[in-house]
Amino acid sequence: MSAMDTWLALAAQDRERRGIIRRADRIGGAGESTLDLASNDYLGLTSDPRVRAAAIRAIEREGTGARASRVVTGTLSAHLELERELCELTNQPAALVFSSGYLANLGVLTALGGADAQIFSDAHVHASLIDAARLSRASVERFPHADLVALRGALANRSAPRAIVVVESIYSVLGDACDLVATAALCAEQDALLVVDEAHGVGVAGCGRGGVHAAALAGAEHVVMTATMSKALGAQGGAVLGSHALREHLVNTARSFIFDTGLAPAAAAAAAEACRIVAAEPQLVASLGANGDLVAGIWGVARAAGAVHSLRVSTPEAAARITERLRESGILVGCFRPPSVPDGISRLRMTANAALSPAQVSHAAEVIMAAVHDEGALA
Ligand SMILES: Cc1ncc(COP(=O)(O)O)c(C=O)c1O
Repeated sequence: MSAMDTWLALAAQDRERRGIIRRADRIGGAGESTLDLASNDYLGLTSDPRVRAAAIRAIEREGTGARASRVVTGTLSAHLELERELCELTNQPAALVFSSGYLANLGVLTALGGADAQIFSDAHVHASLIDAARLSRASVERFPHADLVALRGALANRSAPRAIVVVESIYSVLGDACDLVATAALCAEQDALLVVDEAHGVGVAGCGRGGVHAAALAGAEHVVMTATMSKALGAQGGAVLGSHALREHLVNTARSFIFDTGLAPAAAAAAAEACRIVAAEPQLVASLGANGDLVAGIWGVARAAGAVHSLRVSTPEAAARITERLRESGILVGCFRPPSVPDGISRLRMTANAALSPAQVSHAAEVIMAAVHDEGALA
């Protein structure tokens, strides 16, 4: 066995011992015999004929790839159209499209960070923001989830001249909303910049226009927003939204923008069409909320601010067993277990997808609840 093989085998054993084996060889997605309640396609737009047609038209017009970085020859009309539609939807002055939400987060924090900055990040923020903060050369401090008292103390005692606070408008872990009005007011008072990841907010919160818009913070000088096209917008790609000066700064300094090929035109055009649909059809976003009410009622949990509801399960092993049983019966649910959850609690997660009928959503929520009861695993 080579040294590399030995090292890989040890790493695999360690994963096995910790019960975190991930798989990327199972084909997901909804089909005739499967109901996909684990996906982030909250509004069902990946299969909307208008979104698909927009992607096809973009391929016919601009080809299948962007061919280069956007700062070379890779900026296409589909990117500029998407930036316009995102600004229109969220009421932001300017947008810059990256090739994923992960890269948008990496880009914004590395471009705004630096040795003279300190980043304060909520304990529940996504891995992309954690990685971005680490790469930013700023010092990084985590504050307890949604604890504005702790954040105020940390900001008041900061050691660096510039402070950047990082939150999500709707958190992926619990589906709860950040109090953006209070957080932005605190940031203004403490002269800090607020970066809000709206991955789970766009298409969901504030009639689909996002949490920053709902909090009347779009265009606020000290608030920057990031978004992904890969969830409610049913496409792929990411964006940073804020002032024109911020956009200009990112074009010149964000390494995940400069040294990356532009987003594929099909994805950009699909996301632009999805923005138009979200803006024009508030009833689509409303049906996501109505389906969420059904899930919360059946599970006896609080209604999540986001599209995903979660049900606490007694042990990680039970959560994995139930997920597998549901998969065998054609229902795909998310399974979050330690160590990948920040609060150490195992959960099954279900998207209250707007494309499903109330009957389908109720039936699925009941089947999931019954499976948890059968295992005696309700926490
Ligand atoms: C909060 C949050 N931010 C960023 C991302 C990354 O987005 P993308 O999938 O477009 O890279 C995700 C995706 O899981 C997310 O949940």
